[in-house]
Amino acid sequence: MKASRRSTAEASPPLASRARRHRLALVLAALVVLAGCADFRARYPGPDILFVATPEQVGVEMLRLASVTAQDTVFDLGSGDGRLVIAAAREFGARAVGVEIDAPLVQTSREHAQTSGVADRVTFLWQDLFVTDLSSATVVAIYLRDDVNLKLRPKLLSELRPGSRLVSHDFAMGDWEPDRVQRVQGPTRLHTLYFWVIPAHAEGVWQVQQGGREARLTLNQRYQTLTGTLSTDGQEQAVTEGRMAGDRITFNAGGRTFTGRVSVEAIEDGTVGVGSAPPAPWSARRVR
Ligand SMILES: C[S@@+](CC[C@H](N)C(=O)[O-])C[C@H]1O[C@@H](n2cnc3c(N)ncnc32)[C@H](O)[C@@H]1O
Repeated sequence: MKASRRSTAEASPPLASRARRHRLALVLAALVVLAGCADFRARYPGPDILFVATPEQVGVEMLRLASVTAQDTVFDLGSGDGRLVIAAAREFGARAVGVEIDAPLVQTSREHAQTSGVADRVTFLWQDLFVTDLSSATVVAIYLRDDVNLKLRPKLLSELRPGSRLVSHDFAMGDWEPDRVQRVQGPTRLHTLYFWVIPAHAEGVWQVQQGGREARLTLNQRYQTLTGTLSTDGQEQAVTEGRMAGDRITFNAGGRTFTGRVSVEAIEDGTVGVGSAPPAPWSARRVR
């Protein structure tokens, strides 16, 4: 009998003991939540810049400057109340993603998307923009600050595909010259919009084929600007006016103008012309 009472007591602990375990479980749960918060704070140290909205019509001009169409996926890094993201979907038919570190602003953005009828084409991520995967973006819009732009620049250049467009409200990108600058009158002041096209990586040494002849093209690249040399039969000519526009390359060498399309290993669809003579084809393979 004693034995059976003891076993019953072991199977079902007294109320006081159960309450202790319950308290312990609550404390453990609180510790897990606190650890999660600490981890979140470590990864999301707070906004790099506070929310200041781009006036609606200035936002639309940013998207126009980037030639946004229904084929685009537009990312607004630091999307505030979501107005650029919603305008990209509503005015241009694009898909759009807002990345915002401030949770209430993310909630406001989602509500705006619902009331604007574009919720099916937009996504708002509660995220630090420095960890966002940008590989699906064809257009990136930002309204940050000079120093934040500089911190973001390597990520934009390495993650965005060549030909993707970048538009920044009021702040430039250090020594990365914009491809275009536009001033827009807003309701209270003049705004400056900066525009860039992400250049393909053309720097390196290329083996050129042109009309049965071979040459060696050495290119140095600084953002979208190219310099270098073209060596043909031991003759070296300087590369001048070299430029990338996305994956499109253009340069002059030895009085001729070269154009083509750069991929990782090749330059294709090339034409080389002198004056008004019909252009001839050329191509190149990457040596290193
Ligand atoms: C100047 S506001 C621009 C808002 C919006 N893009 C516009 O043009 O109206 C910058 C926004 O970036 C957000 N932000 C700042 N640092 C961030 C970060 N590291 N990750 C994500 N959002 C951030 C801020 O909370 C703020 O909403």
